[in-house]
Amino acid sequence: MHAIDTEDLTKDYALGFWRKRPYRALDRLTLAVEPGEVFGLLGPNGSGKTTTLKLLLQLVFPTGGRAEILGRPAGDVSVRRRIGYLPENPYFYDHLTAVELLDYFGRLLGIGAADRAARIPRLLDQVGLGAERRLALRRCSKGMLQRVGLAQALLNEPEVVFLDEPMSGLDPIGRRMVRELILGLRDRGATVFFSSHILSDAEAVCSRVAILAGGRLVASGLLTDLLAFGIKGWEVVVEGADTAAIERVRAMAARVTPIAERRYAVELPSTARPDVVMAEMTAVGASVVSINPLRDTLEDYFMRQVAEHVRERQVRA
Ligand SMILES: Nc1ncnc2c1ncn2[C@@H]1O[C@H](COP(=O)(O)OP(=O)(O)O)[C@@H](O)[C@H]1O
Ligand SMILES: [Mg+2]
Repeated sequence: MHAIDTEDLTKDYALGFWRKRPYRALDRLTLAVEPGEVFGLLGPNGSGKTTTLKLLLQLVFPTGGRAEILGRPAGDVSVRRRIGYLPENPYFYDHLTAVELLDYFGRLLGIGAADRAARIPRLLDQVGLGAERRLALRRCSKGMLQRVGLAQALLNEPEVVFLDEPMSGLDPIGRRMVRELILGLRDRGATVFFSSHILSDAEAVCSRVAILAGGRLVASGLLTDLLAFGIKGWEVVVEGADTAAIERVRAMAARVTPIAERRYAVELPSTARPDVVMAEMTAVGASVVSINPLRDTLEDYFMRQVAEHVRERQVRA
């Protein structure tokens, strides 16, 4: 059984007031997430990430296709108790404090008083809310509200956790906190499905990702597979090279960056032979300090996939 399973999941919104016309926000999305996976749904703004999450939580209804969570149809009451959700812009009753809010949600979820008293302070510690927990939420910053939202999403110790842009609005320390939280959830066996338009966050925690552009799935797979094919070139750092030698190397290089006196970083395209540069350098008495393959980052991959999709659309239009 998959933790999350969608087939041809499609959503049209009606645009326009007088003359309604459908706008396809999500187009036949098919994907499966295994139990215990940290799965990243990636894509630029407007690509359909939030729509996907809302469909999975049945906050909106599909135009076509189907979605299952833990082997049951999305929205099934027995499933709701076993999932947690952080919305993109969590809205809170802003006269309450974090503790009051979580206690309120805890009661709604049917969590007993003793469990609430044990869990709530622990969760607030986990998300890094200290003294602010007794502050009215209207006085909290976006980052603090995001942390309250995360605590709320985890209140019922969910088996599947849906997080919509969990790192947004957080400073670098907050981002690290979210990363550690996600890895902690994974370690206790939960499935985490999160959306992000920030790839470095995904790179740090995801095993698999799906990339959306314009409502369509444009790529998916293990991060290691998506990135494995990409040796973009080589970076060779040389020391003691004179100007003439560097000029000869420059002809083969994509870029030569001076680092210090007679020390250069030479960027070679993947088609170049680093050993030729090494020979050239040793011949003039210079030394090669280091040589590193330059790999594709998820960012490069993402930009390429999205650009490809945009080109295809233009051709079709
Ligand atoms: N309620 C709605 N009514 C009409 N269009 C919507 C609605 N919600 C989202 N959209 C449109 O659907 C597309 C996908 O939106 P969304 O799923 O929020 O993308 P993302 O979360 O990736 O930024 C966007 O073009 C957005 O403008
Ligand atoms: Mg969104």
